[in-house]
Parts: sequence; C-alpha cells; structure tokens
Amino acid sequence: MANTNLANAKTAKNDEFYTQYPDIQKEINAYLDYDPDVFRGKTVLLPCDDPEWSNFTKFFAQNFELLGLKKLISTSYAPESKKYKTPYQPTLFETQQPYFNSDKSKTNGKIFVLEHDVTGDNRINIEDLQWQYLEGDGDFRSKEIRRLRDEADIIVTNPPFSLFREFVVWLMESKKQFIIIGNMNAVTYKEIFPLIKDNKMWLGNGFHNGNAYFRIEVPRVSYADGVFDEHTSLVKFRNCCWFTNIDHGRRHHPLRLMTMEENFKHSKHKEIRGRKEYIRYENYDAIEVPYTDSIPSDYEGVMGLPKSFLDKYCPEQFEIIGIAEGDSGKELGLKPFPPELKKMNPSLRQGQLYYMEDGYPVKPYARILIRKKQ
Ligand SMILES: C[S@@+](CC[C@H](N)C(=O)[O-])C[C@H]1O[C@@H](n2cnc3c(N)ncnc32)[C@H](O)[C@@H]1O
Repeated sequence: MANTNLANAKTAKNDEFYTQYPDIQKEINAYLDYDPDVFRGKTVLLPCDDPEWSNFTKFFAQNFELLGLKKLISTSYAPESKKYKTPYQPTLFETQQPYFNSDKSKTNGKIFVLEHDVTGDNRINIEDLQWQYLEGDGDFRSKEIRRLRDEADIIVTNPPFSLFREFVVWLMESKKQFIIIGNMNAVTYKEIFPLIKDNKMWLGNGFHNGNAYFRIEVPRVSYADGVFDEHTSLVKFRNCCWFTNIDHGRRHHPLRLMTMEENFKHSKHKEIRGRKEYIRYENYDAIEVPYTDSIPSDYEGVMGLPKSFLDKYCPEQFEIIGIAEGDSGKELGLKPFPPELKKMNPSLRQGQLYYMEDGYPVKPYARILIRKKQ
C-alpha cells in the first residue's frame, strides 16, 4: 500500500481520496434493507463529488430508477481551490461540450443534475446527467451550495477530511438526512459527541474492521524525461466509519450479553476472566468495561466503554450518559485527581477517568459512559 504517498498527502492536507464503488453499494444497501423506500421521491445532493471521479455520483445515477429518486444533484470543487494541487487537465467529457470554458474549468465548480430522460431511451440513468459551471468554486460553505443543500432531502458524500467538523455543523444546520464517511475519532469532538449522545447522529454499517481503502491520484515524476504521469493507487485508512441519521437494521439489534458472574467464569478476555468484580473508577461512580462483549447484562449502574462500543450501540438497549474527555468530562462531574498522582502518571488529565491498579493510577483511553435502559 502507498504509505509514502499517504504521508505526503497528509502533510499537504490532501483531501483527494475517492471512495470505492462496492463500499458505497454495501452501505446504501443496508438502509434499503431496512426501508426499501428510503430514497423514493427524494432529492439527493452529493456536495463534494465530480462524476468523473466520484463513485457516489456513479452509484446514484446508475441506480436512479431503482431507488425511485426524484432528482440527483452532484457538485464538484474547482481544481484551483483544492489544497493539494496536481497538474490539471480537463477531460474530453468537458472539452467536447460547446460551453467548455478553459478559465472556468479551473476556477469554478460544476453542477451535475439528473432528473429526466434526456437521451430519449425511456430510461433515466448516468447518460442523462446534465452539467454546467457553478457561479463559484463549489465550496460547500458558499451560498450557492447552501441553496442546493436546502433543496435536497438527503445529503451523501465522503467530505474533505480536513473540514470534517465544519461539514457536520453545515449538515446539522440543514436538518436534512445524511450519510457521510468520517473517522471514528471524530466521535470525541465537541461538535459531534452531543449529536451521538442525543441520537441525532449514529454510526452506519461501516467498513470491515474500520479499514477503508480509498483511491488516490498521485502525480509521479518520471525521472527519465521529467514528465508527470497520473498514477492511481489505493490508500488504507484505519478507523473509518459512516455517520448517518437514517435508520438501519443493525442499530436495533440488542447485544446478547453475559451476566457479571458468567463474564468472570467464561469471558474470553484475561482482564475479566477470573476476577471477582469489575474495576471501579476512582473519580466517578462507574465500572470500567474494556470490551463491548464484556458488558455485564445484569449491571444497572454506569459503565465506561471504549468508543468502539458505538458500532454496536442499540438505543433501545442502552443510554449514553456522556464522554469522559475534556470539558464533557468536567460537566459529568468527574472528581479532580490528587496532584501527587500526576507525579506517578503524568498522562492524567482533569476531566478524564482513572482507576488504581497495584497502587498506580491508570488512565484508560477516552471512555463513553453508558447505562442499561430500564
Ligand atoms: C475525501 S474527497 C472525497 C471525494 C468523493 N466524495 C468520493 O468519496 O469519492 C473530498 C472531496 O471534497 C473536495 N473538497 C475539498 N474542500 C471542499 C470544499 N470546501 N467544498 C467542497 N468540496 C471540497 C475535495 O477536492 C475532494 O474532491
């Protein structure tokens, strides 16, 4: 895998990662399994998607009739506004149009709309996509794209990684339905966690074990003749997930769990098996549960879990109390730790949980505090 490319891309704040078709197909199918009419009669906006690159546009255009869409709008970002500059060459698709404009091609975004049969074959599909230049560069924050956002019913995309927080704020402002790709670490952000806690946003179906492979366009210098040539490869990202506010079946499957006693006897985790009780935090009235499958089914109090729990979170089974991180942790009323403990473990932070193990203060990674629903 292209690790060096990924490192270079990160330093240049590259946002040019393209989602693979099967990943989109698998995710969308999960919503359709739950509600086959979820897209019927709806206008879908793909706000960071150029059909020449984006499989989101391809997928929704190809399946326009099957999904029963009313309208598909896909907008792209101007090449000159992109953070990571690659040698720009408009495609034949663009240059062959009578309204091709070589300046606008670099400085303006494009809008692609699919609504009617244009080719006259009595079908509405990718061949019927109509495009034109946008007035501006296609920035999702512009008035022009906000208007499209407000027209849409459902917004779907893999947004620029570097603007993820802003993108979610923009989405929530719209009160529309959405399906987007993000990083699991985002659940701890102050803009995101309250949405998860209040069930205004949840995890979708996901990538296998959180590993996602995106296509990346990497210009490569050929040392022989000094000419750039375009090379396409896949880059692996860990902890990738989908965020949505559209229902799917897995979200309503309660976890099948063992009681506390059964966990002590049969848990596959050495941290749990053979114990007589779960570890208790020193600064909050809750137990430490290091694995989702170790949640004791018969415990009524608060439990601290790793954020991977959210992937299995069923709102009928559990409620989320908060997250033990920074200001949220302080709001939860986590007691400050005595200063002498900080000398023993300098990683301790106010607003985070800790417990004692063999006389030493241990800080677990960010914990989500949950409680069984009555
Ligand atoms: C992670 S890529 C994903 C592309 C496409 N959605 C896909 O999944 O294949 C994000 C895209 O957003 C574009 N982008 C970056 N900043 C943007 C902005 N402010 N407004 C709109 N698009 C932006 C990037 O140029 C890039 O093509």
